[in-house]
Amino acid sequence: MNSRALAIALLMVSAASRSVAAPAAGPADTLAATGQWTAHARGHAATPPMGWNSWNAFRTEVDEQKVMGAAQALVDTGLAQLGYVYVNIDDGWWLRRRGSDQRVQVRTSIFPSARIPNTDDTSFKPFVERLHAMGLKAGLYTDIGRNACSQAYDLHSPNLPEGTVAEREVGLFGHLDADIRVYFRDWGFDYLKVDACGIADYGADRSHVKTPGYRAFEPLIIRSQPARERVEEVRAMYRELSDALHRHNPDNDYVLSICTWGQADVRAWGPSVGNSWRTSGDIYPRWSRMLHSFDSVATRALYARPGTWNDPDMLFIGAGDFDEKHLTEARSHFTLWAMVNAPLLIGYDLRGAPKSLLDIWGNASLVAVNQDRAGNQAVLAYRSDDVDILVKTLSDGTKGVALFNRGLQAYDIVLTAEHLKLDRGSPVTLRDLWANDSVTKFTGEVKFTVAARETRAFIASGTRVLPGGLYLSEMPGAIHVADDGVRQPEPDPELHRSVSWEDSRGSGDWPVYTGWGGAQADASPYSTELSVGAESFRTGIGILANSRMEVRAQGFKRFTARVGVDNATRTRGTKVRFLVYGDGKLLKQSAPIGFGEAAAPMAVDLAGVGILELVVKTEGDAAAPVAVTWAEAALSR
Ligand code: GLA
Repeated sequence: MNSRALAIALLMVSAASRSVAAPAAGPADTLAATGQWTAHARGHAATPPMGWNSWNAFRTEVDEQKVMGAAQALVDTGLAQLGYVYVNIDDGWWLRRRGSDQRVQVRTSIFPSARIPNTDDTSFKPFVERLHAMGLKAGLYTDIGRNACSQAYDLHSPNLPEGTVAEREVGLFGHLDADIRVYFRDWGFDYLKVDACGIADYGADRSHVKTPGYRAFEPLIIRSQPARERVEEVRAMYRELSDALHRHNPDNDYVLSICTWGQADVRAWGPSVGNSWRTSGDIYPRWSRMLHSFDSVATRALYARPGTWNDPDMLFIGAGDFDEKHLTEARSHFTLWAMVNAPLLIGYDLRGAPKSLLDIWGNASLVAVNQDRAGNQAVLAYRSDDVDILVKTLSDGTKGVALFNRGLQAYDIVLTAEHLKLDRGSPVTLRDLWANDSVTKFTGEVKFTVAARETRAFIASGTRVLPGGLYLSEMPGAIHVADDGVRQPEPDPELHRSVSWEDSRGSGDWPVYTGWGGAQADASPYSTELSVGAESFRTGIGILANSRMEVRAQGFKRFTARVGVDNATRTRGTKVRFLVYGDGKLLKQSAPIGFGEAAAPMAVDLAGVGILELVVKTEGDAAAPVAVTWAEAALSR
C-alpha cells in the first residue's frame, strides 16, 4: 500500500467512529432550497485574475522600480494584451501605522512616488494612477490580523514595519473599515490579497512575539492541527472584510484574494466570501511542492466557478525546478494552472525575461483555456500517483485536455474517447497546444509517449456522448456546492506531501487542509470510483448526504440521474432521500434508499427553471457520513 492509500485507509477508520446528525430544519438550515444562487457574486473575477505579483521574485525586497519594470514589461511583451493586467505588490510595502490617525504609511524609500512633500502623509494614488494609465490594474497586500507574515518569517528583511508595537501593527485587525477605505477609495487599488499570519503565528509563545516584540494574538488558525481551528471566527472576519470591500467599491471593480493557505476549512466558505482562496501553503520552486499545490485543487472542481476560484498559489515559472533549464517542468506547471482555472500571477523579474519563459506565460491557447467564460475547472478523467488526465469542458463544447506525467520516467499515456465523454465510434480531433497547433486524429483511443514531468495539452473536438446535453460533471462552473455535507472537517490525505520548506525535522508532513469527503465530479467524496449497489459509473457527482447543490439550469429542459448510496459510504445502516427543487419548489423526491440498493432513476422536467437544487437528506441521524451518488446526472434539451 502506498502512503496515500494508507493515509486514506486510516482516515476511513477515524471517520467511521463519529456520529453525523442530520441538521435541524430552521432559518439557518443550509439544506433548505431557496431558488437563490448563493456563491460569491461580488467583485471582478468572471474569469481567473491574471497578472504579476512581487513576492516570488523579490519577497519583501520589493520597490517601485521593480514593480514598474514588471508593469512596463507586461505592456511591452504583449502579456498585458493577453490578459495579464493585475500588478500586485505583496508584503514589504509598509513603513508603520501612524500613531496620530492610525493610517498605514507607505515606505517611501522604496516607493518614492508615494511621498507627499512637506508632510509625513503618503499615498499610493500616483502609483496606482500610473498603472491605470498603462491599461493595468493595481493590487495590494495586507493581513486579516494585526501583523503580517514577514514580521514572523522574514526577520532579517530591511523592509519590516518600524516603530512601537502599535505602529508595527499594519494589518487590518481593529482598522478594517478605515484601511479598506484608504486602499480603495483614496488610493484606487483594484485587488487585495489578505493574508492570515496575524491570526495564526502570533501566539504568546512564539519567539518573534517576544523579540522584536508583538502583541500576542491567540491563534485562530493552527497550522498543524486543523481540528483546533476556530473556523467560524475566521470566516466571520473575512466575511466582514468582504462586506467592507463591497461598501468601498461602488463600481464593483475589485478582487478579494483570501490567503488562509487552505486552512480554516476555507474550501467550505471561501466560495461564498471571496473571489479566490488559497488552497495550500506557499509554493516554492520545487517540483514536489508544485505537485502539492496542484493536488490541493485537483479534486475540488465543484468548489470554483465564475466569480470565485480555487487558488493553488502563484506561478513560480522562471526559478528553481521551473527555470530556463527546466522548460518541460515550467510548461507542466503552466498547463496545470491553466486547466484548473488558477489565477495566473507571474512571479518573475520580468525586466529581463528570456523568450523561452515569455513563450510559456504567452501561450495564448492555454490562456484561452484558463479564461474560458464557462469557468469549468478541469476534472480528473484518470488519476494515479504517476499520471493524471485532466479534462476541461469549454464553452463551445470542445474540451481542454492535459496528459500529465508526474514522475521521472516516460509513460505511454492512452487517452480514450470515454475520458473526453466523446463517442467511441466517431473521429476525434486533437489540436496540440504546445506544438504549434499540430493536429492528431483518432477514433476510440490514442497513445502518446509523455516524457518525465511533461504535460501534453490539447483541445479535443468530436461527437459528444450526450448530444445537446451536458453531464453535471462537465459543468462545474454552473454548480455551487452550498453545503457539501461535511460536518467534521478532516484533513485531505490525497495530496502529494512535499517536505515542507525542505526541512525534515519533526515526524512528517501530515495532511492539514480539511476538505476530505467533499463533493467531487466523477468520483466519490473519498476519491473512489462512483458505485451504487453492484454497478459502477464513469460519470456523476459524488457527495455526502445532508448536502445541497445549486445548479444553473441554463435553459435545459430536463434533469436526469440515477441515485443511491455510494459504496464509499462510511456507514451502512442509514437510508437517504434525494430531492430535486426548481427555483425553490420541490419537483421530485426519491423513496428512501439504503446501502446496497440499486441506483434509482430520477427524471425531472425543468420547464422555465432558473436554479435547480439537488438535495440529499438522511432519514434520521447517521453514525458516520453517508456517501451518495448522483450517477450520470445530466441536463438535456
Ligand atoms: C504568506 C503568503 C505568501 C506571501 C507571504 C508574504 O506566506 O502565503 O503568498 O504573501 O506571506 O509574507
